[in-house]
Amino acid sequence: VQGALWGGRFAGGPADALAALSKSTHFDWRLAGYDIAGSRAHARVLHKAGLLTGDELTGMLKALDELDADVRSGAYLPAESDEDVHGSLERGLIERAGAQLGGKLRAGRSRNDQIATLGRMYLRDHARIIAGGVLATVDSLVEQAEKHLGVAMPGRTHLQHAQPVLLSHHLLAHAWALLRDVQRLADWDKRAAVSPYGSGALAGSSLGLDPNAVAADLGFDSAAWNSIDGTASRDVYAEYAWVAAMIGVDLSRISEEIILWATKEFSFVTLDDAFSTGSSIMPQKKNPDVAELARGKAGRLIGDLTGLLATLKGLPLAYNRDLQEDKEPVFDATDTLELLLPAVSGMIATLVFNTERMQSLAPQGFALATDIAEWLVRQGVPFREAHELSGAAVKLAESRGVELWDLTDEEYAGISEHLTPEVRTVLSTEGSLDSRSAQGGTARSAVEAQLAELKKQLDAA
Ligand code: ARG
Repeated sequence: VQGALWGGRFAGGPADALAALSKSTHFDWRLAGYDIAGSRAHARVLHKAGLLTGDELTGMLKALDELDADVRSGAYLPAESDEDVHGSLERGLIERAGAQLGGKLRAGRSRNDQIATLGRMYLRDHARIIAGGVLATVDSLVEQAEKHLGVAMPGRTHLQHAQPVLLSHHLLAHAWALLRDVQRLADWDKRAAVSPYGSGALAGSSLGLDPNAVAADLGFDSAAWNSIDGTASRDVYAEYAWVAAMIGVDLSRISEEIILWATKEFSFVTLDDAFSTGSSIMPQKKNPDVAELARGKAGRLIGDLTGLLATLKGLPLAYNRDLQEDKEPVFDATDTLELLLPAVSGMIATLVFNTERMQSLAPQGFALATDIAEWLVRQGVPFREAHELSGAAVKLAESRGVELWDLTDEEYAGISEHLTPEVRTVLSTEGSLDSRSAQGGTARSAVEAQLAELKKQLDAA
């Protein structure tokens, strides 16, 4: 079969339909630089094993450098007849080094160990880029948190007013989740830093090649300890796809809030013009498209993960061609996040908060009822009873159409003798916030300590 990597035992070439189905150059070409780096490392171990002379190694490396330059400039591209990145690059090598020398490089390696290695190299590089984008988003949140220290807002559960919290506390809740995603990528890298090169098709190589030399050359910590695992496992890809999906979900959670906050009803934030869009028919519209696309792309990232897991679930050992389907999901997840993260971090950095409105809504909706109950506990009332009494105050205020601080001393006394006028000390946003000063709480002092710890962990990330 002309130009193919495997023609020897075949009488004729593949059907056009098979060739079209089999082809992967339209998505695996992005691995070309990694394939050439792998080829350089492989040439060196062939030389070390006595399978290439010094001159041959020099000639091989020179041809690979030329090919690399041509791939980078776009002068060398996969041909219509090339099946995959490996076959295409072998053709390019032979064009530059001649069939005699170029044909020697394939000894002791297989596309199975090659592709498993190149994928890891690519993902390790892009995990760093993505971590940088996530860190920039965390920075945007931290900057907004620092800028608005002291501003209260309604904290919610079930989307209902629950208790007042600091806006900074709320923003930093998103920052912690994203910081853990960065920590996950760093932890993932330990498992990704194992090189499958040297595993061959599935059983290793008989040629005396040194897999650890290749691994070190390509920036890995070590070579795989099991050649079947090296060529057939893709859990490292799936874990990457999971972290990418988790980042998508975390960005989507922030985005959903920004979409709500930007509504007329909430009016908590104004989006910067540079991070919002208009309507082709309604002249007044200013839409939160960045946030909506983030929410939408989270679905896509989850799809990349589930598609990949479904591909893997029924596979017997070792390599199966199904594994060619491993790349598009992780490439798509990579492209999606690299596109999305700068937009989301820019949107957050430029948000303008309507702090007066947030502050004035913070205690409303009986959000200080828990403070009354906890104040009663400090007066020695069992919480079970305190909860009932505070609930009775809410019921009364609700029936009168007023807030808790509008009830009179007499009305409080009528509910319980324990509800003396002193209860008013906790009937303010400030009182409520300040009392939550233990680690993790929303008091300003606790949020300042939180910021310091977060920054420490950011520096280490
Ligand atoms: N293109 C394949 C992949 O992406 C690698 C080639 C392995 N092909 C084979 N017939 N063993 O997984």
